[in-house]
Amino acid sequence: TILNRTVEKARQAAECLGCGYDSLDRISYHLSEADIFIPALPHEAPVLNIDSIRKDAVIFDASYKKSHYREEASRLGIQFIEGEKWLLHQAVPAFRIFCSMEPDISVMEKSLSLSRSAENIALIGFMGSGKSTAGRLLAEMTGREFIDTDELIEKTSGSSISSIFRDHGEEHFRKLEEKAFQSLEGRKNLVISCGGGAVISLKNREFLKDNAITVWLYCGIRESLNRIPSGTRPLLDREDSAERAAEIFNSRKHIYAASCDLLVSSDRTEEETAEIIYEEIRLSV
Ligand code: S3P
Repeated sequence: TILNRTVEKARQAAECLGCGYDSLDRISYHLSEADIFIPALPHEAPVLNIDSIRKDAVIFDASYKKSHYREEASRLGIQFIEGEKWLLHQAVPAFRIFCSMEPDISVMEKSLSLSRSAENIALIGFMGSGKSTAGRLLAEMTGREFIDTDELIEKTSGSSISSIFRDHGEEHFRKLEEKAFQSLEGRKNLVISCGGGAVISLKNREFLKDNAITVWLYCGIRESLNRIPSGTRPLLDREDSAERAAEIFNSRKHIYAASCDLLVSSDRTEEETAEIIYEEIRLSV
């Protein structure tokens, strides 16, 4: 049964499909009868009252973007199938028809989730791997706003990273770093250069997973150290900085690996690095 605000439109569609039709005002009655409810409304449309829906019904959302009916389904304890599943599974037979071959659904799923998080691009990696410079260039290339989490922390706290470490210690710095990520929640179209230790925090990793395509900029430790001006990284401000850098890198490398969608080597000019990231991301989404 097709319901529409304009009954005539519902009638025309129902005629093509050979099904029933009615006015949207009569939704309560139809919901009390239906096995499956398919909301096909844009997000901006007023949320329908669906309280009369049967407890054993299924809501199958036609919207693969944000939808109000996920919350409604959970409020009413009703099974909900998200529109994204629909989007994916209509693409499977389409691929079969166009390409005469069986698609790999897991690849399609991965690509779908990447495009969802493509709202922002985040660069992670060790100190001196070129995140800020390459990030700035990438932001220019992609027309996005550039955010450097260290700069954000310095701006909001009114102190330099070195004085935060010196006066309050690393733990306090990590709290400020988490706050900086929280403040980016809901923002889109950003290139975010993340401080080298940001991925230590589970909260920050979850933020990256949900909100960004994350690129690990990788370069050898010796090269990283060459790029860092002395006195600018409190964790390495010591005699045995090379040994300490190796220790820190070794304790983090598995976290960088597990947090990234792409790995890009930055053993080249920053312009080339930005170009490569741009190209890789363009191919992935
Ligand atoms: C840190 C990296 C720095 C800065 C702070 C701590 C780290 O950022 O956040 O000195 O723990 O690796 P960069 O990676 O931009 O140097």
